[in-house]
Amino acid sequence: MLLSPDGRTEAHIPSTAGGSLPSGLFTLGVASGDPLPEAVVIWTRLAPRPLDGGGMPDRPVRVRWEVAEDERFHRVVRRGVALAHPLVGHSVHVDVQGLRPDSVYHYRFRAGDEISPVGRTRTAPTPHSRPRLLRFAFASCQDYQAGFYTAHRHLAAEDLAFVAFLGDYIYEGPANPAALRQHEGTGEPMTLAQYRNRHAQYRSDPDLQSSHAAFPWIVTFDDHEVDNNWADEIPQDPALQTPEAFRERRKAAFQAYYEHMPLRRESTPRGLDMRLYRRLRFGRLASVHVLDTRQYRSDQPATIEAANDPALSMTGAEQEQWLVHGMRTSGSRWNVLANQVMWASNDRRAGPEKVYDLDNWDGYRVQRRRLLEFFGSGQVDNPVVLTGDRHCTWVCDLKPDFDDPASPVVAAEITGTSITSGGNADPVAFHNTYDPIMAESPHWKYIDNQRGYVVCDVTRERMLSSLRLVSTVRAQESTVRTAAQFLVESGRPGISVAG
Ligand SMILES: [Fe+2]
Repeated sequence: MLLSPDGRTEAHIPSTAGGSLPSGLFTLGVASGDPLPEAVVIWTRLAPRPLDGGGMPDRPVRVRWEVAEDERFHRVVRRGVALAHPLVGHSVHVDVQGLRPDSVYHYRFRAGDEISPVGRTRTAPTPHSRPRLLRFAFASCQDYQAGFYTAHRHLAAEDLAFVAFLGDYIYEGPANPAALRQHEGTGEPMTLAQYRNRHAQYRSDPDLQSSHAAFPWIVTFDDHEVDNNWADEIPQDPALQTPEAFRERRKAAFQAYYEHMPLRRESTPRGLDMRLYRRLRFGRLASVHVLDTRQYRSDQPATIEAANDPALSMTGAEQEQWLVHGMRTSGSRWNVLANQVMWASNDRRAGPEKVYDLDNWDGYRVQRRRLLEFFGSGQVDNPVVLTGDRHCTWVCDLKPDFDDPASPVVAAEITGTSITSGGNADPVAFHNTYDPIMAESPHWKYIDNQRGYVVCDVTRERMLSSLRLVSTVRAQESTVRTAAQFLVESGRPGISVAG
């Protein structure tokens, strides 16, 4: 199948004659994502000079791809040719069709005389099947400057159906000379060329490449893929970026994000927007509702009083309706939300005074209450919210009113830690600060501030999640351990520390 930049099949490919290609085409590795029962997206980007615009000639290049049942490619089941087009940074997204459900495949690409590393992927079970087990991981927040991707090296060695990445895939900050390793470039990225270079720097990391190559990923962004704490068309610092300049910046950031992620055609940026909220189904066992809490949100309120404004929305009305309808009708035992910022109330100060991060759902209280009342209405089976952003593990019961002890527990939230952001942690200082607040926050069940990721084992009866912590992000080698496990039982809202 021949694909144009917008993914349409083309009967005729423009000539790619024009000289030989530079060497080192597959510096960014391979990836796959958004598995369906009979299809999965496979990805690569040709970039012989990853930090300098990619280094490809300004013309489309044919890329052959193949998908096989075995890693030696003796049993190839699908193959084709795609176009790596300069308009999409010579990235390739192939939506491979006609695969068998719930099956492992291997894939690779060829361009010029070169062949890519081999990726492994896996399709989803058929919609009406009843899988005995679904095992996946979720992760977030991988500031390149904060450390090495030791967590990805261990993540790649897990046995998983997919990885859900909940945002802060890149950070937009300028190079920090004091950091363990430095961002490329001379400042924050603003243009498409600059965002491409930033993504390419991250994607050049071999440990990140290994975890992409091991499983399909289901990705969503948070703020740092564009600008810290952006909200719809509003940047972090409106005084420094005009509305027009920020719209152009957002377009550039979305385009580079799409070019580097294994996303389906539906997520191609169009104008100012990019459709990222979507649903993936794993038989009748679980649906994953992927949220976008940046692109449509109201600006952050300035005070707790202002956070009670019913007009504030984290998702926009259309996405909220999509979420409610999709959760109600999913037919799934588990309704998992791939979400960015914390739902559970998260006071930052001990004593009667309360301090919240109003960029979180604490800033959008009326909508949060409305959705949590829906979670508790009996219309949706086993909602579990998985969250990034916090750079800590925060395991919580969810209640429509966190200030009312009588408010019922309606769901569970696991805020995962970060891959690197925050660097190596000081658990003693963390617990000195937060243990007294935890004593005043009975819906918090477990807190921790060390680096890693979370693995979730889902059966019809329960979801058992393991916090996997690495020993360091300040060296390339680390060990990994299961620091704690968290149990959600089907039909019993809330979460507990297991064992
Ligand atoms: Fe982050």
